[in-house]
Amino acid sequence: MVLTVGRRLHILNEYSSRCLKQVRRSHATETFKWSHRVFSGIQPTGSMHLGNYFGAVQKWVEMQNAGESVIYSIADLHSITLPQDPKHLHSNILQITATLLACGIDPDKSILFQQSRIPEHTQLCWTLGCLTTMARLAHIPTYKEKSATVKEVPLGLYVYPVLQAADILLYRATHVPVGEDQTHNLELVQHLAKIFNNRYGHTFPIPKAVVADSSISRLKSLRDPSKKMSKSEQDPKSRIEITDTPDDILEKCKKALTDFTSEITFDPEKRPGVANLITIHSLFTGLDPAEICEQNIGLDTGRYKLVVAEVIQEKLEPLRQQVQQYMSEPQYIEEVLNRGADKASVIAQQTWLDVKTKVGLQINEGSYRCLQVSEKRVM
Ligand code: TYM
Repeated sequence: MVLTVGRRLHILNEYSSRCLKQVRRSHATETFKWSHRVFSGIQPTGSMHLGNYFGAVQKWVEMQNAGESVIYSIADLHSITLPQDPKHLHSNILQITATLLACGIDPDKSILFQQSRIPEHTQLCWTLGCLTTMARLAHIPTYKEKSATVKEVPLGLYVYPVLQAADILLYRATHVPVGEDQTHNLELVQHLAKIFNNRYGHTFPIPKAVVADSSISRLKSLRDPSKKMSKSEQDPKSRIEITDTPDDILEKCKKALTDFTSEITFDPEKRPGVANLITIHSLFTGLDPAEICEQNIGLDTGRYKLVVAEVIQEKLEPLRQQVQQYMSEPQYIEEVLNRGADKASVIAQQTWLDVKTKVGLQINEGSYRCLQVSEKRVM
C-alpha cells in the first residue's frame, strides 16, 4: 500500500504525540506526590497478642496521635480463608474492635472499619488478580507457611495477598505499618500497583511497609522461639493475649520454653527463649536488655519468669479491664464500626469508580458516544 506524504505525516504526528503522552505519563508517575495516607489491618481470628500489639498496633496508635491520615481495618474476609466458627468469628470481630479501642485507636481520629462491609475490596481484588500469575502467588512465604498446615488448600488462601493488595490500594495508602511477616505480601502489593499503573495510567501510589526494628517486628512464640508468636498457633500457651487474666499470664510465663543455663543473659542467637522474655520485659518497661540482665543478676530463669509475669500483669490489667468495659457496650462497638464503614466507603467508591473507568468496565458518557457512532456505522 502506497501512503501519500500527508498520510505519512499524519501517522508520524499521531505516533509522536502518543510517545509524548507516554513520556508525560511516566514522568508523572515518578514525580506525582501522593498525600500521605496510612493503612493497615488485623485479622479477627482470635484475640490480639503481644506480637500484634508491639509489631503493629502500637505504631498504629503513634501514627494516629501524630495527626497522620490513618485507616485501620478488621480484616474479616482474610480470616475466612481458613475455617472459622461463625459465632466465634462474630464475637472476635467485636473483641478485636474493643481491643483496638482499648489500645488507643480513637474513632474520631482514625477510620476503623470492618473489611467485609465494603464490597469494593473484593471487586478490586478480582481486578488485581487478573494482573498477576499463579506462579508468583505460589512463591509467597505466608502462602507456603499456611498451606502447609492444611490438607486441601482453599483458593482463598492462595488469593489472600491479592485481597491484601486491594485493601491497601483501595485507599491509595502510601504507608503500611506491619510486622516483619507481612513484608513479602507488601512486595506483591507494590508489584500490582506498578503493573496497574503501567497498563492503565497512574492510579495508585507504591505503598511502603513501615516495619518496627527487628526485636519487635517478630516477637517469638513462648513455646517454640524458632517460630513467631501467632494467633493461629494451636497451643494458647505460645502467646500472651491482651485479654489474658493475671493467672493466665503467670501460667504462660512459667511454661515459656527456655534452656538449661540458669543465669539471665541476652543472646537471641544462642538463647532465643530467654531473649524473647527479656525483649517483652524491655518493651513493657522501656529498659535496655543489658539493664534488665544487670537488674536480675543472681536469679535463675525460673524466678526470672515470675518477674516478667509480674511486669506483664501490671501493664496488661488496665487494658484487659478496658476491653471488658467496651465489650459490655456492644451497641457502641457497632456504632464505631458503622461510622468507620461510612467513612471508608466514600474513599473506596471513588477509587473503584476510577479503576472501573480505566479498565473499561464503567459505561460512561464517552462509551455512549462510541456506541452511537458504531450504531450509525451499522445502520
Ligand atoms: P495479622 O492479623 O496476622 O497480624 C496483625 C499485625 O500484627 C503483626 N504481627 C506481628 N508482629 C510482630 N511479631 C509477631 N509475632 C507478629 N504477629 C503478627 C502482623 O505483621 C500484622 O502487621 N494479612 C494481615 C492482615 C491484613 C493487612 C491488610 C495488613 C489484611 N489486610 C492490609 C496490612 C495491610 C495479617 O494477617 O495480620
